[in-house]
Amino acid sequence: MDNRVAVIAGAAGGIGRAIAQRLARDGMRLALLDLDAAAVQALSEELPGSLAMAADLTDEHSVQDAMRRTEAHFGRLDVLVHSVGVTGPSLPVHEYPVQDWQRTLSINLHSAFLCCRAVVAPMLRSGFGRIVNIASIAGKEGNAQQSAYSVAKAGVIALTKSMGKELATTPIRVNAIAPAVIHTPLIDQMTPELLATVLAKIPMGRPGQPQEVANLVAWLSSDECSFSTGSTYDLSGGRATY
Ligand SMILES: NC(=O)c1ccc[n+]([C@@H]2O[C@H](COP(=O)([O-])OP(=O)(O)OC[C@H]3O[C@@H](n4cnc5c(N)ncnc54)[C@H](O)[C@@H]3O)[C@@H](O)[C@H]2O)c1
Repeated sequence: MDNRVAVIAGAAGGIGRAIAQRLARDGMRLALLDLDAAAVQALSEELPGSLAMAADLTDEHSVQDAMRRTEAHFGRLDVLVHSVGVTGPSLPVHEYPVQDWQRTLSINLHSAFLCCRAVVAPMLRSGFGRIVNIASIAGKEGNAQQSAYSVAKAGVIALTKSMGKELATTPIRVNAIAPAVIHTPLIDQMTPELLATVLAKIPMGRPGQPQEVANLVAWLSSDECSFSTGSTYDLSGGRATY
């Protein structure tokens, strides 16, 4: 992994941080992107040589600019991990505020589209590319009271499938991960009832750890992930067996 350059979108989040720490240990050079300027700067100070950028990744120009700055700074761009997300409110569809629907789709799905779209050309210039989108089991199953989040994550899975096929004959591999509940601040947005329901569905009876997501990202970002593309990898403690 030495000298490979990875962009981590949503780097300041619970899962993004763990991914950044793991890829740094593996010898990658990192561009850390997040809306939270202070948190992404603090993370960058822990990871020498990393480039921190505060950006709203739902905005086309901010995304293009961040990818351009990454390639200009490091001379190449090899890996994108998209770990941006919000769950949005927990409400049934008939009570779901339209603005929250649009915001949840924008942060989870539109930002994934913009980031994926912006990295293909630099990856082709590098002669290597790995895209890893953090989706969710909600995108496979559809969580009650979380329609916008479920739809957005299903969209991320479909985006991954389309790009996997489009880029199959290039050096770029595009895969997604579908975690069940992972122990991060995102779960604090869930009501206690929803969290209990989610944990009850996991045969291992526990949430995953961010490091367990990072371990799978490390493999999906590596040369060893050579014959897999357009695929969604389970990370659900036995919940998803399909
Ligand atoms: N935590 C879980 O249980 C779980 C389970 C399945 C999937 N996921 C997915 O994993 C990913 C990471 O989740 P997490 O638990 O680390 O959440 P988190 O809330 O800790 O991190 C999300 C990060 O996204 C950033 N972000 C939000 N809007 C943004 C925007 N417009 N532009 C740039 N950055 C923005 C936030 O600042 C935050 O740092 C998300 O896509 C989430 O849906 C999480």
